[in-house]
Amino acid sequence: MSCCYVLDLRLMPAHVSRHSYIYSLLRELGPGERLRVWTPEDPALLIAQIQHQMRHSLVWTSVDDQTGWLITMHIRSADEPLPLADTLRRDHEQMDGRLVQAFTYLGHRDWSAAVGEVASLDAALRTHIVIENELLAPLGGASVAEATAIMRREHDDVLVQLEMIAEVCAASAHNCQELETWLGLLAASLNKHEHREESLLFPRWTRVLALLSSRDELLTEVRSRLREGLREPLSVSKIH
Ligand SMILES: [Fe+2]
Ligand SMILES: [Fe+2]
Repeated sequence: MSCCYVLDLRLMPAHVSRHSYIYSLLRELGPGERLRVWTPEDPALLIAQIQHQMRHSLVWTSVDDQTGWLITMHIRSADEPLPLADTLRRDHEQMDGRLVQAFTYLGHRDWSAAVGEVASLDAALRTHIVIENELLAPLGGASVAEATAIMRREHDDVLVQLEMIAEVCAASAHNCQELETWLGLLAASLNKHEHREESLLFPRWTRVLALLSSRDELLTEVRSRLREGLREPLSVSKIH
């Protein structure tokens, strides 16, 4: 398949699953090859479906010409760095995974393993929040002012929940039931919060970042801080 082949989604039979068909074409691409797709509809949902199927290994850009969208896509190679939105989305997934792991330990009444997992989650989540508040929120601007304000409020709520969870973990009584309750509240908060960010803020930050001359430095800073968050817990004083 050459780089100039364009799949026009208007020509596809209605009964064919678009994201599965595109996925099958992507799997046939050779190294360095791109697939181009034209669609008259906003491709956000289609891309989300393909990304889900491909575990976020799709790299894509789109151009809107007022009549539709021309999307250029390929599968990320092993040495190709993740773009901003995928980097953050992967961090969300890793934190969600830690939460699930903590629940699993609690289900087995393994208090110390659960507390260890919660400590790692705490460090990763605090780091993630600092990155979003300090480095990325300023990119948003007026068009996402409300979504940014909601994000900051939800971050404050999550930090309060982390404090409560830390207190439960530090208590001498190994109360799995209480920790489970607090983690359940945190899971519910994160579920809504992450979805809102991924759908409203990540696309905006990505668009603004692409226009910045300092985009490489900012991306490097985000990635290096995320790696730090995986290594060492932050003190609460660093958050404020
Ligand atoms: Fe967030
Ligand atoms: Fe986030």
